[in-house]
Amino acid sequence: MNAAVKGLAVQAPVDVKNPKLIAWVAEMAALCKPERIEWCDGSQEEYDRLCQQLVDAGTFRRLNPAKRPNSYLAWSDPSDVARVEDRTFICSAKKEDAGPTNNWMAPAEMRATLQPLFDGCMKGRTMYVVPFSMGPLGSPIAHIGVELSDSPYVAVNMKIMTRMGKAVYDVLGAEGEFVPCVHTVGAPLEPGQKDVAWPCNKTKYIVHYPETREIWSYGSGYGGNALLGKKCFALRIASNMGRDEGWLAEHMLILGVTNPEGRKYHVAAAFPSACGKTNFSMLVPPKGFEGWKVTTIGDDIAWIKPQPDGTLRAINPEAGYFGVAPGTNYKTNPNCMASLDKDVIFTNVALTDDGDVWWEGMEADAPGKELPAHLTDWQGKDWTPQIARETGAKAAHPNARFTVAATNNPALDDAWDDPKGVKIDAFIFGGRRSTTVPLVTEARNWIEGVYMAATMGSETTAAAAGAQGVVRRDPFAMLPFMGYNMSDYFQHWLTLGDKLQAAGAKLPKIYTTNWFRKGEDGKFVWPGYGENMRVLKWMIDRVEGQGQGAEHVFGVSPRYEDLNWTGLDFTRTQFDKVTSIDKAAWQAELKLHAELFEQLAHRLPSELPATKAAIEQRLAA
Ligand code: OXD
Ligand code: MN
Repeated sequence: MNAAVKGLAVQAPVDVKNPKLIAWVAEMAALCKPERIEWCDGSQEEYDRLCQQLVDAGTFRRLNPAKRPNSYLAWSDPSDVARVEDRTFICSAKKEDAGPTNNWMAPAEMRATLQPLFDGCMKGRTMYVVPFSMGPLGSPIAHIGVELSDSPYVAVNMKIMTRMGKAVYDVLGAEGEFVPCVHTVGAPLEPGQKDVAWPCNKTKYIVHYPETREIWSYGSGYGGNALLGKKCFALRIASNMGRDEGWLAEHMLILGVTNPEGRKYHVAAAFPSACGKTNFSMLVPPKGFEGWKVTTIGDDIAWIKPQPDGTLRAINPEAGYFGVAPGTNYKTNPNCMASLDKDVIFTNVALTDDGDVWWEGMEADAPGKELPAHLTDWQGKDWTPQIARETGAKAAHPNARFTVAATNNPALDDAWDDPKGVKIDAFIFGGRRSTTVPLVTEARNWIEGVYMAATMGSETTAAAAGAQGVVRRDPFAMLPFMGYNMSDYFQHWLTLGDKLQAAGAKLPKIYTTNWFRKGEDGKFVWPGYGENMRVLKWMIDRVEGQGQGAEHVFGVSPRYEDLNWTGLDFTRTQFDKVTSIDKAAWQAELKLHAELFEQLAHRLPSELPATKAAIEQRLAA
């Protein structure tokens, strides 16, 4: 099939039978004016060819095949290193439907703003047509998207991160629906103009039109700004689909946990960006937990659909991990390190003199924990331990990433690709707080759990551009990813709870955790990583109706004697430091909840202020 467009004939491959898709590609080609169009088939041959093209262009460096087979390193422009939340827009028809936590512009105004930017934006470049499925191909829970991008870096990353390629056209058929995603680095090339290694534009727009389910991204080539299946589709647009269709699109890892008796449970856990979701999803049980097994279904996003019997089933819509590299080593996440042995795209990590990669945290694996004597840092500059001491220069950017297929993960769950998904038994909402919030608390009921998730606070990280370490409210770890009004989203969770209960189901338990409390010395008190298994086991015991705990003002937490301490030297005093509830700190904390509720007052479900009032009363008693 083909469509004629001014200047460029759009000749779709024979597999493409969807007239709407072809017409849209033709329309976008007429607007963006690429030199050529390439319809991606998702084959290995295509991946290898595009990677070679990126090597030739200077975007990729092929790593030493003896050390890191079939792997590449990209260094981005130093101005294009993270998601740009202040340039991310939800352009719903009505402002109140985007809500007070999102940047909003009227759709017509945004379209008028983007039109001149997209006009000719792909001149001199190839427009890649990237068909992808979020979720197992053909699964009733999955949805299809097509990304048009002028970045071959995006095309190869999408091959790893999604089920990308020709088979998607078959699922789409002639009538199927897809989410149109158009992306440009915003750097047209004039005839004869030499390209740069990482083209991008100072002006950036990451735009979502929820009603028409469209994504338009301009000016960035990095991560969630450019790989549009991830945050833009699987969270911001999918949260709208979920609200309309009665399901959940969540910023959650999904793991399987099997106890020594062979009983298996599934947990979905929301943590803000760069707070250890990948680590938790690949957790290796520590000493004292022989016979326990943790397996990964997903490390970042969950699509969760209620079933007629009132249970919830979840899939990971992604097919790969776009994880934060710094801090990852064989102690913090051995499964992740094993996943990165081969077939990886690294972005903004450092290069060793023998053609391998390095990032801060890897020294923990060196025989004497020594730093490398010399590296080339993520900006192509010399790096030595002395330079680092003197200037504080990081070898890898703190938001440096790896892109790797889920199938590289030795802890991958057998059901990770099951179109039916897995049944969820518990939810975890984890903030990053150096004070106030205890290690773990179980909500006594669904409403208390929604309250905990809604009022979650967290210190900001390098995953987003801007200041780091500032506490902000990050409801459900969804603040940067909510595609509609946050208060309506709280209501959606409450309504879902009612529906599940009405169907006669035992609701999943809801927990809130904080691995990040610090002592007077400024160091983390809780060892974290594999040791989080101690908390996970307590949760599973509770799901089984076994684990003991003590009730306090806002839920139930384990006492020291309720956790298994075999194999870890962690004293009662240390435990008190990570679990104590300070009345004054909580009174101050509740004031911040009040501020959040004021900000979200419009359409805020009354259950939330009522829960707050009950906590205040108990605190005052
Ligand atoms: C991510 C993020 O990349 O949350 O997963 O920023
Ligand atoms: Mn994330």
